[in-house]
Amino acid sequence: MPPQRALERDRPLRLGVMASGEGSNFEALVMACRAGQLPAEVTMLVVNREHCGALARAERLGIPAELIDHRSQPSREALDREIVARFRSASVDLVVMAGWMRIVTEVLLEAYPDRLINIHPSLLPSFRGAKAIEQALEAGVRISGCSAHLVALEVDSGPILVQAAVPVLENDSAQTLAERIHEQEHRILPLAVQLAAQRLGLLPGAAS
Ligand code: GAR
Repeated sequence: MPPQRALERDRPLRLGVMASGEGSNFEALVMACRAGQLPAEVTMLVVNREHCGALARAERLGIPAELIDHRSQPSREALDREIVARFRSASVDLVVMAGWMRIVTEVLLEAYPDRLINIHPSLLPSFRGAKAIEQALEAGVRISGCSAHLVALEVDSGPILVQAAVPVLENDSAQTLAERIHEQEHRILPLAVQLAAQRLGLLPGAAS
């Protein structure tokens, strides 16, 4: 059963975040909530790697975090079942994949229909997959960016919520381009969460 509508209850929207890497987008979401830019709270972080920056950030920020090592799970579906169980136990309303580098299954999608958001470092539908920034540099595009979108079964697809463009400069390396894209990701991810929640009636505001 989908979680109760936030507008019908007396508590803030509860976000679950999934991360595999540095966790800068996770931290940006936490800070947007704490600054009152996003009327929500990050309730739980799930990581799949013990030594990832996201876990250290959660500790520093005081956000409860759960490690579910994907190698301990017999299948992608089993991993997603574990994640859903943790988020359900924390009464999470909406889930954000903030640098989650595993392919998700219908188990997660069916548990959080239209409530699963991903951030990706390209202007989708260009450059899907794990090496989006390298692909953009190889293709020689002059503009790249990032996309926040609702998750569908096909990797890096699904309705786009917010995008931001950045220039690709002559001497860019994957690192310098990634830094420019990250800045925009941190800005658009809270906006995308707000938009998705409004569309579902989980937050007040323009629903489409
Ligand atoms: C972000 O750039 C995000 O777009 C990307 O991983 C990075 C995580 O950074 N996600 C993907 O490539 C998913 N296909 P972070 O750990 O600092 O938030």
